[in-house]
Amino acid sequence: MKKLLLGCIALMGMGCSGNFVNDALEYCTTQTERSLNELRQSGSIDYTRMPRNIANTSTEWHTRKATKEEWTAGFWPGVLWYAYEASGNENIRAEAEKFSASLEFLSRTPAYDHDLGFLVFCSYGNGYRLTGNSAYKKIILDTADTLATLFNPKVGTILSWPREVQPRNWPHNTIIDNMINLEMMFWAAKNGPNKTLYDMAVSHADVTMRHQFKPDFSCYHVAVYDTVTGNFIKGQTHQGYADESMWARGQAWAIYGYTICYRETNDPKYLDFVQKITDAYLNRLPADLIPYWDFDDPAIPDAPRDASAAAVVASALLELSECMNSPKGRFYFDQAEHMLRSLSSASYQSRDARPSFLDHSTGHWPAGSEIDASIIYADYYYIEALLKLKRLKG
Ligand code: GLY
Repeated sequence: MKKLLLGCIALMGMGCSGNFVNDALEYCTTQTERSLNELRQSGSIDYTRMPRNIANTSTEWHTRKATKEEWTAGFWPGVLWYAYEASGNENIRAEAEKFSASLEFLSRTPAYDHDLGFLVFCSYGNGYRLTGNSAYKKIILDTADTLATLFNPKVGTILSWPREVQPRNWPHNTIIDNMINLEMMFWAAKNGPNKTLYDMAVSHADVTMRHQFKPDFSCYHVAVYDTVTGNFIKGQTHQGYADESMWARGQAWAIYGYTICYRETNDPKYLDFVQKITDAYLNRLPADLIPYWDFDDPAIPDAPRDASAAAVVASALLELSECMNSPKGRFYFDQAEHMLRSLSSASYQSRDARPSFLDHSTGHWPAGSEIDASIIYADYYYIEALLKLKRLKG
């Protein structure tokens, strides 16, 4: 009996009571309501401003206007949709609808860059999944067609940052984050009339697989291509420590993206590849499975962590484990659960200190921005992963 009690206390120390997933989802709902109250403080909510981050010296959300340049603007509506899914709270659903509405303009605006999947699929994608609202479906389909305008058939990938073509002399640039936006293209090809979106997504994944990874299976953040020949010119970093280092969130986007490619195509080459890039990441993690922001920062173990990368990878590994009926799939599931237990502990949850779900993410270390902070996309992928884990555990 005493042994059992001690075991339970040890588990609670890791943030897991009898059912840590339910506890963590309840916590997310409470924090979401707290954030909504904070946003309401000045009277009425400005639905065009989205929570983006909270510095570790602050207690309140820094919000940003939902413009075409603000790549994170879809995550807060996405958090609200997931919190509605977790709680069934109709007030949260009403707020999810209102915040999502501020992104509708993207479906009828020329593409500014590749982030349209982050912006519209995290918001409207979840909104449509949960409500079946046909207006949401049209917004997603129209946005996927807009994203397709950035596809360059000569190279075979989507141009990620048109704004960097001239100033950096990057004629055609594709960043690894772009892998996430393929999910909206696969979805639109399946659910709408434009079947060419599927071919573009597959081409993007194949060309990226061929050029954007190093022999150790870590990825370059940016791949630069020649628009005339279509040839790969060079790989380099933008948000990582060095061109040849492994930037944690870049690797996380790759793991998530190729998991979706396998789920959507059933092509074994993606299953083989995603295991290689996943194992390169898992093999170098610290004991709590939350990565340092870049695996090659010489300041480790004093370098900041990136909880956002951990949340993205946890969600991806749960998805991947579902596609794999094998001991390796079970291993990925266990790793994901371990990551979520770590994130759900007092070491990473924001708890009373601030209304975000998680602390300790790193946004853009080379620019000195969002270091060891709460960042909205960490919260988004955390609650997404928790909901997946709850479903898979039954
Ligand atoms: N550029 C997207 C990211 O910070 O991961």
